[in-house]
Formats: sequence, C-alpha cells, structure tokens
Amino acid sequence: MSKIRAVNPKIAPSILAADFARLGDEVEAVLESGADLIHFDVMDNHFVPNLTVGPTVLDSLRKRFDDAAFDVHLMVDPVERLVEEFLDVGASMISVHPETCRDLEKVLERIGDGGAKVGVVLNPETSETVLASCWDKLDYVLIMSVRPGFGGQSFMPEVLPKLSRVRDAIRRDNRDINIEIDGGISSSTIGAAAKAGAEIFVAGSAIFNSDDYAKTIAELRALAS
Ligand code: DX5
Ligand code: ZN
Repeated sequence: MSKIRAVNPKIAPSILAADFARLGDEVEAVLESGADLIHFDVMDNHFVPNLTVGPTVLDSLRKRFDDAAFDVHLMVDPVERLVEEFLDVGASMISVHPETCRDLEKVLERIGDGGAKVGVVLNPETSETVLASCWDKLDYVLIMSVRPGFGGQSFMPEVLPKLSRVRDAIRRDNRDINIEIDGGISSSTIGAAAKAGAEIFVAGSAIFNSDDYAKTIAELRALAS
C-alpha cells in the first residue's frame, strides 16, 4: 500500500507582485512574515508575453539573503544558458517548461548536478504524460493554474484532476517528489488545490496586495493544512 505523507504546506510568495522599487525590502518582509520560499518568475517576452528579471537580480538578493530558498521558475526559450546562469547565482530550485528544452532530461540532469532542486512545469494544457521520461530526475512538479505570463489571473480549477493524477502517480511509486501550484492562489482557492494534492503554494497578488503579509501567509497556510 502506498504511504500517505503528512502534509506540511509551503507558502511561496511570487515577487512578480512585489513593489520592484523596494524589491529587497519586500523579500525581507515576506521572509519575516513566514514565507518558506521566494518564487522568482523569469519571463522573456518570447515564451511568454511579458518581461521580468534575470540572474543579476537574483545575485543581489542571494547576497542579501544567504539562507533564503529561491524558487526560480524559468519561462524562457531557449532555457539552457539561463539554467547555467541561475545555478551560478545560487538558485535553490529551478523549474523549466518542457516546451523550452531541446533535451529535457539533459536540462534536468544539469539542474540537479548544479546543486538545485529539479522541477518540471506543466502549463494548463500540457499533459502529465511528458513526465514519463523524467520521474527519476525530479524533486518537484509545478502545475500552472493560470496561463503563464502575468500575475493576478483567475485560478483554473480544471487543472485539479491533472494535479491529482500526478499526486497518485507519485504515491503509487512512493517517490519523494513535491507538487507545487502556481497561479490564482488565494484564500478562496488554496483549499481545493491542497485537497487535490498540492504541497507548495505560489501566491503573488494574494500576498503582496494584502495589508498584512504575516496574517495572509498564516491564513493561506492554515487553509492548506
Ligand atoms: C505566472 C507566474 C506566477 C504569478 C502568480 O506566470 O508564474 O508565479 O506570479 O501570481 P498570482 O498569485 O497573482 O496569480
Ligand atoms: Zn511562477
């Protein structure tokens, strides 16, 4: 019988919704408010229709927050060179979209060899069957619950059956792989995502648009537990 793992939800504020004029202070504020990870969205105006930040910005944040876990979500095509650059500046976790990789297994191997946790991202329309060739290399699967590119979009509940199928496959084979969900996570959607099997919850606008980060993070955590 497969083991039922204790759920210990992790909350990952997405800096996409932070005030970029005060980025370091915003990161400090969410870390002091109980954030487990800092979700770092990298967009290239090519794979997704938006442009954000690159390795130089993570380099500065890493120097200021040497203990923090930076969860880098790469929405860039091609992705290979940026994987190297984000490894160099101390990314703790790196996830890639299979559509951006010439050779997915090779990219995942490189992330793991470089010392970061290894993730694959599934867009809402991407089937979990792409994971078939890479289960052994994965530390986490990131399920998009919006189309990647922008914060503040509405949660897509139609991705939840896929999330549960991924959870079931992980349990069946007793693998040590976490499921992260990204997009439209708020106090009204986090419960359903947790119930379907998510363990790491990215939240941009729900946290950074709130008046009290600690209260919001605690509330999200309680609803996910
Ligand atoms: C979307 C990004 C998300 C985004 C989430 O492409 O990957 O991480 O910042 O923002 P919210 O929580 O506002 O949907
Ligand atoms: Zn993201």
